[in-house]
Amino acid sequence: MEIKELLYEGKAKKVYATDDPAVLLVDYKDDATAFNGLKKGTIAGKGAINNRVTNYMMRLLEKEGVPTHYVEELSERKTLVKKVSIVPLEVIIRNISAGSFAKRFGVEEGIVFAEPTIEFSYKNDELGDPLMNAYHAIALSLATREEIETIKAMAFKVNEVMKAFFKKLNVDLVDFKLEFGRLPDGTIVLADEISPDTCRFWDSETHEKLDKDRFRRDLGNVEDAYKEMMKRILGE
Ligand code: TMP
Repeated sequence: MEIKELLYEGKAKKVYATDDPAVLLVDYKDDATAFNGLKKGTIAGKGAINNRVTNYMMRLLEKEGVPTHYVEELSERKTLVKKVSIVPLEVIIRNISAGSFAKRFGVEEGIVFAEPTIEFSYKNDELGDPLMNAYHAIALSLATREEIETIKAMAFKVNEVMKAFFKKLNVDLVDFKLEFGRLPDGTIVLADEISPDTCRFWDSETHEKLDKDRFRRDLGNVEDAYKEMMKRILGE
């Protein structure tokens, strides 16, 4: 597989073309941002951890019947994925109150919901990724009604698989963000990443935060939290 031109550089990843027009290469960086890029920093070793953790989760989800963009892990930080057209929605599932949910509704963090919630935000940095509902997404032709239904069902399925998986690692899956893409034939697949950057993980006993909130909130021991999650997930 030959690596060709850089197509896109995001906050945490670079995406390159390859000699296969249906396949892209993702290269994970140690750069971290928060609050729509207002806060910037680096988390040493993050790129390698997020690459390996994401790929582990994608393989697990594929085994459980969730189609993903994953193709092959090439090295510590580099992975081949299927080229998709990204649905410009951030799909957020929550099991426990935290973050913007707690802030928006004026409640404490840590309320365990009877049922998971789902919400969408419009992937648009200029607008600060505003919250939107399914009708707004359909009105703006970001996705069709059928695609939204597929995305919802897949997101809840991902939640069930991940909740059970993390429970065994003594980790509560508080909330997470997913992105979906379309293959050339229109099939919706899970894309982007699943990592401590995009999930909230709390130790089930101590409730210690083991995710990017340590960076967002200046809690210290950021690298250790990422390493701890990699150790629990990959056993190393
Ligand atoms: P929130 O509580 O700030 O809305 O975040 C919900 C989840 O989504 C949390 O696990 C972190 C993740 N997330 C991202 O992956 N990217 C983002 O840009 C934001 C704001 C949140």
